[in-house]
Amino acid sequence: MAIQLTERATGLDEYSASLQAAGLDAPWTRPGPLIQEKASKVEAHAWRWAQIEPLVRQSPEFMTPGRGAERRIVRLDNPGVPERTSTHTISTAVQYLLSGEVAPAHRHTPNAVRFMLHGEGAYTTVEGEKCVMRRGDVLLTPSMTWHDHGNEGREPVMWTDGLDSPVVRYLENLYMETYPAERQPVGGQAPRRVFFPWADAYAALLERARGQGDPFDDVIVEYLDPVTGRSILPTLGCYLQMLRPGVKTRAHRETSSAVYHVVEGRGASVIDGVRYDWGPGDFLAVPPRALHAHAAEGGAPAILFSFQDVPLLTGLGLYRMEG
Ligand SMILES: [Fe+2]
Ligand SMILES: [Fe+2]
Repeated sequence: MAIQLTERATGLDEYSASLQAAGLDAPWTRPGPLIQEKASKVEAHAWRWAQIEPLVRQSPEFMTPGRGAERRIVRLDNPGVPERTSTHTISTAVQYLLSGEVAPAHRHTPNAVRFMLHGEGAYTTVEGEKCVMRRGDVLLTPSMTWHDHGNEGREPVMWTDGLDSPVVRYLENLYMETYPAERQPVGGQAPRRVFFPWADAYAALLERARGQGDPFDDVIVEYLDPVTGRSILPTLGCYLQMLRPGVKTRAHRETSSAVYHVVEGRGASVIDGVRYDWGPGDFLAVPPRALHAHAAEGGAPAILFSFQDVPLLTGLGLYRMEG
């Protein structure tokens, strides 16, 4: 009981009722400290490519991308997040477009970033700048930039989307507009750099691998805006990481959350004492403040791509890491 009763405490119920009637609240009328800790409900969770892929490939039987649904996506639903996103701050999905299909132009308040998974012929036009997306390429559609996607190849294409929509929803600014036509005219230029090719990121990773690894992440590079030198989005950082054979990263906790995608290789992560084995295509969510460590297995390096809300936590002065 945190309340220190005074001799007038017998009148507390009446006083509390008067407060409530006046639209006021005195937290000291309830037991416990003023700032009560809130445990995260976000769960460590693995999504298996062997389950994701057939279900994504089946989805065209049920819908075509067009106005209304807008995108043919399958979201990675964390059982601990009521809004069915991957962590409390990161929404992750796998998007699928058949040959010739277009996901119509729109813009919205959430920032989005895409990591290309499979297929040739995918493109995204951002504010009139058409970017062809190949395996491993990263593409941004910053908040309120017009964007449409299409597939000009012969085979279906697939990528993963990461959005900060849970944060924007919490801030009560979730909003979307549709473009008057299905596609924007091509020939414009995005207001900032939005396309980050795989070859550049992978070369930077290999370069970093020649030095000493980081004890917590082994070899890791962050995608940065070349003009500002900052994370590519204010809310979401994107990272490419290599776990070299024989390296076990040191267990650590971060105040941020993360969604990992296994680009290649096999390995395991231990999150709060539970082991998650993973292989190509799998996704893994790491909740805030969960103790986590990773290691590749099978004698080959593992390559991981991740979305992490580190820039958001850093901007708020709340990013902490404990080894
Ligand atoms: Fe969008
Ligand atoms: Fe970490």
